Amino acid sequence: MRLAAFVLVFASLASTGINAFYLPGTAPRDYQEGERVELYVNALTPIIGSTDNAKLKSMINYDYYNPAFHFCEPEEGIKKQPESLGSILFGDRIFNSKFDIEMLRNNATCRTLCTTNVPPEDAKFINDRIKEDYALNWLIDGLPAAEMKKDLKSGEIFFDMGFNLGNDDDEFAERPALNNNYDVYIRYHEPIPGVYRVVGVLVWPSSIGGNQDIETCDSTAADPLFLSEEQETQVRYTYRVLWTESDTPWATRWDNYLHIFDPKIHWFSLINSFAVVVFLCIMVAMIVYRSVSRDISRYNAIDLSEDVQEDFGWKLVHGEVFRTPQNPLILSVIVGNGAQLCAMVGVTLVFALFGFLSPSNRGSLATVMMVCWTFFGGIGGYVSARVYSSLGGTDRRKNTFMTAVILPTIVFAVVFLLNFFLIAAGSSGAVPFGTMLLIVLLWFGTSAPLSSIGAYFGSKHGAISHPVRVNPIPRQIPPGPKYLRPYWAAILSGILPFGAAFVELYFVLSSLFASRAYYAFGFLALTAILVALTTATVTILFTYFQLCAEEYRWHWRAFLCGGGSAFWLLIYGLYYWLSRLSLDSFSSVVLYLGYLALLVLFDFLITGTIGFLASYWAVRKLYSSIRVD
Ligand SMILES: *[C@@H]1O[C@H](CO)[C@@H](O)[C@H](O)[C@H]1NC(C)=O
Repeated sequence: MRLAAFVLVFASLASTGINAFYLPGTAPRDYQEGERVELYVNALTPIIGSTDNAKLKSMINYDYYNPAFHFCEPEEGIKKQPESLGSILFGDRIFNSKFDIEMLRNNATCRTLCTTNVPPEDAKFINDRIKEDYALNWLIDGLPAAEMKKDLKSGEIFFDMGFNLGNDDDEFAERPALNNNYDVYIRYHEPIPGVYRVVGVLVWPSSIGGNQDIETCDSTAADPLFLSEEQETQVRYTYRVLWTESDTPWATRWDNYLHIFDPKIHWFSLINSFAVVVFLCIMVAMIVYRSVSRDISRYNAIDLSEDVQEDFGWKLVHGEVFRTPQNPLILSVIVGNGAQLCAMVGVTLVFALFGFLSPSNRGSLATVMMVCWTFFGGIGGYVSARVYSSLGGTDRRKNTFMTAVILPTIVFAVVFLLNFFLIAAGSSGAVPFGTMLLIVLLWFGTSAPLSSIGAYFGSKHGAISHPVRVNPIPRQIPPGPKYLRPYWAAILSGILPFGAAFVELYFVLSSLFASRAYYAFGFLALTAILVALTTATVTILFTYFQLCAEEYRWHWRAFLCGGGSAFWLLIYGLYYWLSRLSLDSFSSVVLYLGYLALLVLFDFLITGTIGFLASYWAVRKLYSSIRVD
C-alpha cells in the first residue's frame, strides 16, 4: 500500500512538473492586420528520418547562409540576431531572411523568393546533405516551423520541429530531390477583435522541377527538382503563406510541439522502474539497518560483560577506517568538483520544474547550467578543502589551485579539440572564438576566485571530527571476495542507478544528439532524485560489506562504486551509436565520442561524489555508535 502511495505521489509530482513547464517565458506579441511578421532562419541540423529504423547520419550543423547552399539572401544584408550564451553553445545561429510576411495578407498567393544557380560541386554538397536527412529550422514569432509527421508506430500526427531540406525517399525518386517550394501555414488566434497572435507554424516543403506550375506553387503535377552534379542547375525558390484561424490560445501554443510519443509506454515504463527502484532502496536500507543495529547491540553487550571474546566484522577495523587514503589530494579535488556539478544539476532542475527553461526561451537551459557551474565554484572549493583536511591533507594551496583549475582545463581542452573538428568540417556548430574567450574569462575571472574563497572557508572550518582514533600501525587485510575488488564492485553497484535512469536516458540522448526538444523535466527531476538515492544506498551497502570483510580502504572504493553507473552510461552510449546512429564522416564520429566522453566524465564525478559523501556519512554514523576503549 505504502509503495502504491509512493508511486502515486511521484506520478502526480511528475505530471505537475510537466505542466509547470508550459509556463511561457515571454509576453505575447500582438500583431495588427498587415503588420510585418519576421521569419528568422536558424542553422541546418541533421534529424532522424521518418522511416522505420531510421538513423541519425551526422553530428554537424551548417549555417543557413553557408554559400554552398545558395539560399536566397535578404537585400538589406544578412544580420545576425542576438542570442543567449547557451543558445550559441548549443548551436543556434539565427539570421534574418528575405521572406515577406504580413499578418493576414497575401493569403495563399504564390510568390517567388529568388532564383539562384547551383554549380555542380555545390549540387553534390546539397545532395549529400539531403541524403543525410538535414532539416531547415525557421522561427516565426519565436515558434519553430514544424512539419506535420505521422508516428509510424502509433499512426498519430505530431509536429516535428524543422522540415526537410529535400527528399531522399526511394519510392519518391531515385535521386535526392531539393525542396524549393514552401507552403507556410501560420495559425493565428484572435483574442480580441483586431489583435492577432501567432500560435502555430507548419511548413509543407515540396520540390517543383522545371518551370511548370510556378504561378500556383502547385507541386502535385510537377516533377521533382534534381540538382545536377554535371552542370549548373537553376533553382527558383517559391513560397506561399496560408493564414488559418485557430482556437489555441497563445499560452498553450507550445503544446502541439511538445507532443509525447506513446505517452502510455513512457508512463508505464517509468512507473515500473520507479516502483522497482523504490522497492530496492527500501529493501537495501532495511537490510543495512537491521544487521547494523543487531551488530551494534551485540558489540556493546560483549563490551559490557567484559567477555574476552574477539571482535569481529567491521568493528575490527575501527582503528583503520579513518586512516588517510592514497592520494587524498586527488580524491578531494574530484569530490569538490563533483559537489559543484551536483549543485549545478540540482538548481538547474529546480529552475526547469518551475517552468523557467521552456523552449520558448531558446538556450535558457544551457545558459542556466553554465552560470550555475560558474557561480558554484565556491561550493566546489569549500567541499574540496574540507574533505582534504578531513582526509589528513596538509598542502592546502595545492588543493585550492587544483580544484579551481583541473576539471575546467580538461573540459575546455576537449571542447577546443571538438571545435577544431567542427571548423575543419565547415560546420556552424563551432563555438565562435569570442564566445570561447568569454567562457574562459568567465571561468577564470569568476569561478576560480569563488573557488578560492570557498576553499578559504573550507580550511577555516577544518576537518570533520572522527568518532574513533586511527591506530599507529596498519592492520593486515585478509583477501576478500572477488565482487568486492574495486572495479568489480564499481561495475556491479553501477547497475542499479543506471537502471533507474534507463528510460529517461534514451530521451536525453535523443535530445542531445538528434536535436529533439526535451521538455519532460518532471520525469527528469524524479529520475535524478532516484538515481541519487540509489547511488547513495548501494554505495553504503558496498562499503558496509567491505568493512565486514575487514577491508578498510573504503574511500576510493566508495567513489568508484558511486561512479560505477558511468561505466554503464558509456556502454549505453556506444549501444546508442550502433543502434540509432550511422555516422559516416570521421568528424561526426569524433564529435559523438567527444560529447559522450564529457557526459560520462560528468556522470562519474557527480555519482561518485554522491557515493563518497554518503559513505563518509554512514561510516561516521556507524563508528560513532560503538564504544571503543
Ligand atoms: C487562406 O487560404 C486558405 C486556403 O485557401 C483557407 O483555408 C484559409 O481560410 C484562408 N485564410 C484566410 C484568413 O482567409
